[in-house]
Amino acid sequence: MLPRVKRVLFVTSELYPLVKTGGLADVSASLPRALSGLGLDIRILLPGYPAAMTTARQLGSKKLATLTTGGHAMTLWQTRLPDSDVPLWLLDSPALFDRHGGPYQNPLGQDWPDNAQRFHQFALAACQLALGQGSLNWQPDLVHCNDWQTALIPALLHGHRARPATLFTIHNLAYQGVFDASTFWQLGLPPPLWHMDGLEFYGQLAFIKGGIMFADQLSTVSPRYSEEIQQPQFGWGLDGALRHRHDRLHGILNGIDDEIWNPATDPHLAAHYHRDDLSGKAVCKQDLQRQLGLPVRAEIPLLAFVGRLVEQKGVDLIDAVLPGLKDLGCQVALLGSGQPQLERILLEWQHRHPSQISVTLGYDEPLAHQLTAGADMLLMPSRFEPCGLNQLYALKYGTPPIVHGVGGLRDTVFDPTQYTARKANGFSFEPATGEAFWQALERALTLYRQPRHWLRLQRRGMAADASWRRSASDYTRLYRKALAACHQASRQTTLA
Ligand code: ADP
Ligand code: GLC
Repeated sequence: MLPRVKRVLFVTSELYPLVKTGGLADVSASLPRALSGLGLDIRILLPGYPAAMTTARQLGSKKLATLTTGGHAMTLWQTRLPDSDVPLWLLDSPALFDRHGGPYQNPLGQDWPDNAQRFHQFALAACQLALGQGSLNWQPDLVHCNDWQTALIPALLHGHRARPATLFTIHNLAYQGVFDASTFWQLGLPPPLWHMDGLEFYGQLAFIKGGIMFADQLSTVSPRYSEEIQQPQFGWGLDGALRHRHDRLHGILNGIDDEIWNPATDPHLAAHYHRDDLSGKAVCKQDLQRQLGLPVRAEIPLLAFVGRLVEQKGVDLIDAVLPGLKDLGCQVALLGSGQPQLERILLEWQHRHPSQISVTLGYDEPLAHQLTAGADMLLMPSRFEPCGLNQLYALKYGTPPIVHGVGGLRDTVFDPTQYTARKANGFSFEPATGEAFWQALERALTLYRQPRHWLRLQRRGMAADASWRRSASDYTRLYRKALAACHQASRQTTLA
């Protein structure tokens, strides 16, 4: 019988709607909410970025404690996750977090030079809370860490008596928190951690190894990705370490918040619709075409892309199929921000074909919803994708996705050429080449011209339950496994 986990500290560096660069923010809001609904006492810990502190002041906050880590005094504030009762703890340290820019980068898109210090201090504070210090009268049974920014926590807790269990979730293995070896010593990390079975990574310091090597359990955000990262092709140099811990590694598919992403209630849309009546979707398309300055024509297929403009998202593959889509008379609408050279490539396309190709650079939450609803298809040719949320949103909005069949995309998008008509919900291609992508697009556009078949495909995607209902209980089971492993580890330490 596995022990029960009641109290969880969920540690994250992003949280929707307070601070978001990608899907981690969405998951950090929706998963704790679902777990709280299952009866867990879960509290979220987030750095006190300016936007987070402002929201806290608006929602009401109270000072909980002062924590001192390595000479840094930080204030812990409590507020709540918007539209929920989930307590949200903000770690206020003006020197580390009160600055204009993103959570990891300055306004010019360069990493903050003191990121190692910032997230080390954050981890130290999380460890104090994990160990029940800070006079809060609350100690978690488990700390749920997410991505490299929180990955030192399992390493720093390791070996402590009376420590809580730890789970480390990998949302994206490509981001590892790698710094010079000298940073390891400057931070004053425990010397035994400078080891290939510790934080050392080919002569450098990699924060992510703290999670991979020391957490009681590991998870990734889709089953397929948990397999892929054990292979050199997707392992980013960490596949060996992950194979070593494969018996602790699990894949749990992300869910979505179907209150925020619901075409029947979404406040950003010009009209609402649902599975039994998609007429509102046509209104959303018209509205989108008008808004983007594209010819308002119902019969022209409109294909959308939303995402970070980085190599991961396969922007080069979109570049490869744009000539063909343009020649076929399609409209393509893209929204994203990221690497300047990828932004330039897309802007160039818009410049040459403004009546067919629309590019919006920047971060625009309402437009992301409007594209998901108003487009006929979503393009998601990611070279790798730990889970991906956009394809799940698109399915819910009756916008069949066309994806490269990797990671979470492979677990959630089912192509009619590989699956029965009862399961098919979109289009998937392999390998990651412009030709394979183009063939999938041709298949999609052919089906689009057969309205009855197309409607069936749309409805199938809309019918599926992509909410957290199933995956949240998978997490509770994993929490219990982690606690059992933690108990076992502490018995072994006591015996030794
Ligand atoms: P990743 O986390 O790798 O960026 P996901 O598909 O998991 O990919 O999540 C991306 C999230 O970020 C989605 O909620 C998507 O709508 C949002 N998003 C990405 N880029 C933008 C943008 N430029 N404007 C608005 N939302 C965006
Ligand atoms: C990462 C991944 C994405 C995933 C998201 C939330 O940013 O790139 O695939 O959906 O985290 O887990």
